[in-house]
Amino acid sequence: MWDSLWINCNLCTMNDAENDDGLGIINNGAIASTAGKIVWIGEANKLPDASEKLAKEINDLNGSWITPGLIDCHTHIVHGGERINEFNMRLEGANYEEIARAGGGIRSTVKATRAASEQELFDKALKRAQSLQEEGVTVLEIKSGYGLNWENETKQLRVARKIGESLPLDVITTYLAAHTIPEEYQNDGDGYIDSIIEKLPELKKSGLADAIDGFCEGIAFSPKQIEKLFKAAGDLGFNLKLHAEQLSDLGGATLAAKYGAKSADHLEYVSEKSAKAMLKSGSVAVILPCAFYFLNETKKPPIDLFRKNAVPMAVATDMNPGSSPCCSLLLAMNMACTFFKMTPTETMRGVTLHAAQALGIEKTHGSMEIGKVTDLAIWGITHPAELSYHMGFNPLQELIKDGRQIIQR
Ligand code: NIG
Ligand code: FE
Repeated sequence: MWDSLWINCNLCTMNDAENDDGLGIINNGAIASTAGKIVWIGEANKLPDASEKLAKEINDLNGSWITPGLIDCHTHIVHGGERINEFNMRLEGANYEEIARAGGGIRSTVKATRAASEQELFDKALKRAQSLQEEGVTVLEIKSGYGLNWENETKQLRVARKIGESLPLDVITTYLAAHTIPEEYQNDGDGYIDSIIEKLPELKKSGLADAIDGFCEGIAFSPKQIEKLFKAAGDLGFNLKLHAEQLSDLGGATLAAKYGAKSADHLEYVSEKSAKAMLKSGSVAVILPCAFYFLNETKKPPIDLFRKNAVPMAVATDMNPGSSPCCSLLLAMNMACTFFKMTPTETMRGVTLHAAQALGIEKTHGSMEIGKVTDLAIWGITHPAELSYHMGFNPLQELIKDGRQIIQR
């Protein structure tokens, strides 16, 4: 007996075995779930006889589309304060790097995050998570990186875990203590990296973090410093990720690949050598068009290079108060197409299959296949490409998490 059966729908399975159009489309399909897992999927006319009697509950979707629940694989939604003053400064001509060097930027959010209580951080982050969820997100990555000391970094991670416990949403947490050098360490980046490494075993024990991330950039950490962190974190079995080549090419993506990182993110300035290394290591290129847009950048990530080298591309919001105050994954998909000329099929893969791969959860999430979790987004659309096309319009009708309906609109 199945728990639920959805019929009279079009499926965007993201499974090439169904249809090699890049989306795995099945028109007039059906999908069944038991105990939160997909147990049957295919063309409706191939359903076993008397299937209406096989399911406890049948949902007739009247021609709607089902995609896997969307995955936002790069966010900083747990943070204190906003950075509206910097927004104004940039409108008047200052750039992101100048503001950071003048003591603004990440450090100003660090002040606000340290000053905020866990409850305050939670209340704000919950709203952001809910607004992502309203657009079909069922898995969300959340980074720390605005505490920059043990007490405040773990405060952020606890809040992130609590978001996952409070909402029907899977939260993957990432420790980003290597986001920038805190004031206490001034020009001693090496000393700060050592202080992070010292605490990694305790972090591992706490279970608060699934991955380790860093910011490899002139205004943050050098490849040498990141390498030291990656060695230690990799030895402890953490997944690795890296903010790389956002403002310049320091070879961060090559380094990420060398250590088998799940992803390298941003990548506006990435080289062909790094792209090739990423293919070898299976690292995903996480494309963050909202940060590119909000910082008014002009250098675009080399999408053709990733295509040519068959590097999987994910798309994420990068939701954060400085470079991307954007809580809409659908808008990120739209911008990936308009700014970077990714195709709607590529962006769709970027928020499902490849986003799952960037988080190391591709065996259970990111496509609709027998045995994977029943995370389904149900849309009133004519084709999945429509999800990359609208701006400020949300066609979500229903959201199913682990087989249960959690949103109906
Ligand atoms: O992903 N690049 C570094 N980190 C964030 C921005 C952080 C901030 O400005 O607060 C990003 O864009
Ligand atoms: Fe980021």
